[in-house]
Amino acid sequence: MPKRLDLVVGARPNFMKAAPLMEEFRKQPDKFQPRLIHSGQHYDAKLSQLFFDELKMPQPDVYLGVGSGTHAVQTAKIMTSLEELWIKQPPDMIIVFGDVNSTMAAAIVAAKLCIKIAHVEAGLRSFDIAMPEEINRIVTDRLSDILFISEPSGTINLKNEGVPDEKTVFVGNIMIDSLITHLEAARKSTLLDELGIRSKQYIAMTMHRPANVDNEEILSSLITVFNQIGKVCPIIFPCHPRTKKNMEAFGLFDKMDSKAIRVIEPLGYLDFLRLQSEARLVLTDSGGIQEETTYLNIPCITMRENTERPVTVEVGSNIITGVDPQKILEAAQKSLGGKSKSGRIPEKWDGKTAFRIVEYLSDYFD
Ligand code: UD1
Repeated sequence: MPKRLDLVVGARPNFMKAAPLMEEFRKQPDKFQPRLIHSGQHYDAKLSQLFFDELKMPQPDVYLGVGSGTHAVQTAKIMTSLEELWIKQPPDMIIVFGDVNSTMAAAIVAAKLCIKIAHVEAGLRSFDIAMPEEINRIVTDRLSDILFISEPSGTINLKNEGVPDEKTVFVGNIMIDSLITHLEAARKSTLLDELGIRSKQYIAMTMHRPANVDNEEILSSLITVFNQIGKVCPIIFPCHPRTKKNMEAFGLFDKMDSKAIRVIEPLGYLDFLRLQSEARLVLTDSGGIQEETTYLNIPCITMRENTERPVTVEVGSNIITGVDPQKILEAAQKSLGGKSKSGRIPEKWDGKTAFRIVEYLSDYFD
């Protein structure tokens, strides 16, 4: 009997992690019967459906449609829907990805129903418990039976937390599987022509972390510094719905120098890959973009006080500046002035992570 595996996704950064695994499972239908469950945490076409289309993912087998809400409301809705589903149709194992609310919600429900849990991208820690993602990571890892690790810090963190070695396995970074698969298609994206920009003559920026965008004073001071940086090299800013909503509420769009910063709609996977792969510099507060720029060896400035992905700083092209506008400005000036950071590709970020996960699971079930 093939093993019934439920892969749970919910938000944009999950989709490129689940796609390579779905693909790999489908090669072994006699062993695995995967089912894709989408919580509906992200529901805007540009944050969700577009990714399914571009990643050539099958449509979700189950769509829970939970939508937005406070953390407790969103998490609770995902939990009640999943509990109902899994009481009726329990899988042999669930697989969750990364650190979004859908990840933790699924892990709690599965653990209480005694369903096995595998966590892809386990062990990452920012050590900043004020980040909702850090809470999601800790809870999910604590409840997981198999922890698939993406970078060496994951192994160390889990060891320090007392997770037995036999539960952990360093498989590499699954998001890089997707990146490698789609880089060729991304090169064909017409985005740069559409925007009238040239390779290496712009900065690509993303920003959506609550710590940066939910507070008016912080967001306003960041915009002041972006206006300055954008005068040296124009910034292209695909704007996340959370950021857009807050910028409107705080009346900050008027403060933005439209010659220095160009705000555009959130991009699909291929267009964003093209945008970052040809940028002179990337400014971000995202987790995944720190990793993608490291693989592409594009200088990246991370506007956060910490990173749960230290390999991108130790080995890759990433710099952590914090959110002090002066520090961001200095780092950007240095990078644009010819002293940009260059790095190497971390171990096992080679496009074969999904293969390693499926091999491991195959042995595990045997
Ligand atoms: C979530 C993840 C974050 C990830 C990010 C990528 C958590 C705790 N956070 O943050 O780790 O980096 O996704 O995008 O899971 N909204 C829309 N349309 C949508 C989805 C959201 O307009 O399709 C708006 C809603 O007003 C919502 C807000 O964005 O309240 C925040 O969405 P939510 O999914 O709760 O968190 P993100 O900030 O997207």
